[in-house]
Amino acid sequence: MEKATMSDTARLEINGQEVELPLIVGSENEVGIDISQLRAKTGAVTVDVGFKNTGSTTSSITYLDGEKGILRHRGYSIEDLAENASFLEVAYLIINGHLPNAEEYADWDTQIRHHTLVNEDMANIFKAWPTGSHPMGQLTALISSLSSFYPDSLDPHRSEDEQHRTIRRLIAKMPTIVAMLMKKAKGHPLIYPNNDLDYVSNFLNMTFKNVTEDYEIDPVFVEAMNKLLILHADHEQNCSASTVRIVGSSHSNLYACISAGIAALWGPLHGGANQKVIEMLEGIKADGGDASKFIAKAKDKNDPFRLMGFGHRVYKNYDPRARIIKKSCDDILNKMGINDPILEIAKQLEETALADPYFVERKLFPNVDFYSGIIYRAMGFPMEMFTVLFAMGRLPGWIAQWKEMRDQNQPIGRPRQIYTGETNREFVIMENR
Ligand SMILES: CC(C)(COP(=O)(O)OP(=O)(O)OC[C@H]1O[C@@H](n2cnc3c(N)ncnc32)[C@H](O)[C@@H]1OP(=O)(O)O)[C@@H](O)C(=O)NCCC(=O)NCCS
Repeated sequence: MEKATMSDTARLEINGQEVELPLIVGSENEVGIDISQLRAKTGAVTVDVGFKNTGSTTSSITYLDGEKGILRHRGYSIEDLAENASFLEVAYLIINGHLPNAEEYADWDTQIRHHTLVNEDMANIFKAWPTGSHPMGQLTALISSLSSFYPDSLDPHRSEDEQHRTIRRLIAKMPTIVAMLMKKAKGHPLIYPNNDLDYVSNFLNMTFKNVTEDYEIDPVFVEAMNKLLILHADHEQNCSASTVRIVGSSHSNLYACISAGIAALWGPLHGGANQKVIEMLEGIKADGGDASKFIAKAKDKNDPFRLMGFGHRVYKNYDPRARIIKKSCDDILNKMGINDPILEIAKQLEETALADPYFVERKLFPNVDFYSGIIYRAMGFPMEMFTVLFAMGRLPGWIAQWKEMRDQNQPIGRPRQIYTGETNREFVIMENR
């Protein structure tokens, strides 16, 4: 990128005063203008609603090039990681910055296997919820409740040991909690973790085994789940990661930060889209299966309908995760011998949209959520669980983002604003209003 080599400052003129702003250049030559002295020097702030142009931090966790469709964690491409690594390996990489060697991995894996149980009292929380409440709301509460079960680790930054323990605890307990959500929704008895099983197999066993029957863990499911978790593991400064960082910047405990991240993920413009995609595809099917009718609705500015699973704030070429998932989706459904009519509708929708100037001009492509729901559904997960599964995958990313923010000793996140309300007014007593 020439910009960086041409100059190492940017010049801004404001009210006849010129200020030099240093440039920050990343390892992939991304350029940022450092405005940290702007207000002190000029009294002005920048305004960027939705942060479309604002870098909130420097970070060495994930690199994303939306124009080229590149996603790398700690330098490793998402394609390589999805093909060759296990989710726990990727979690280690994202949090610690390097791929674990055999000894490091064995230690990580053993520690996580030994933290899988949750306090028995946690199940009591379910008694307070009406049946049918959404599992994402339940997940935020359960993760937050870990702060009550482990009050000694409310400041995991206090010592390295405490931090490791809290991180391992969260990663180990997440599948147990997610499986509890499934079992409690059905009113079935819980299946306890089995520490002889690997991370993903243990999760599937707790989720799909019934106390009354044996359950054989299908290696096709294990492979699919591993891949899906890896594809969701981190995605730099998205809405939920930024939430985790900003909550953590007030030195809130890590459980509260992760719970806040889950709340941010829930929205249909973020992780909640995977549930909405299936609802949309089902809606198209029920309506006769005509994809073009829904494309027309999505293009109509007077219609609030959007193609769920389409478009991305950063990817303006294609979402590399969607490409991997689309292929897995075909493979997995074939291996399982499942013929889901909504897969055909999804493909038809994608094909029609990608040939339509509205979508081409706006660079709208299928994102990670477009096909993931079809796989989750084929595996037997109810729709309400899809975003919960996204949260389980995203957990290492949130942890790494929190850790980096605290390790860099970043100040509390506190944006400015430009006030546009009434100026000073005299108070009028009620009788005179
Ligand atoms: C992801 C998303 C929130 C990104 O939003 P954004 O970066 O703020 O982009 P904008 O909302 O400004 O969209 C840019 C243009 O594309 C249109 N657009 C974006 N996503 C669209 C979609 N899914 N369907 C139809 N039109 C869409 C917008 O209407 C806008 O059109 P305009 O320029 O004529 O006003 C948005 O694409 C979206 O809502 N997608 C559907 C939800 C989804 O799948 N989310 C999961 C993300 S991983």
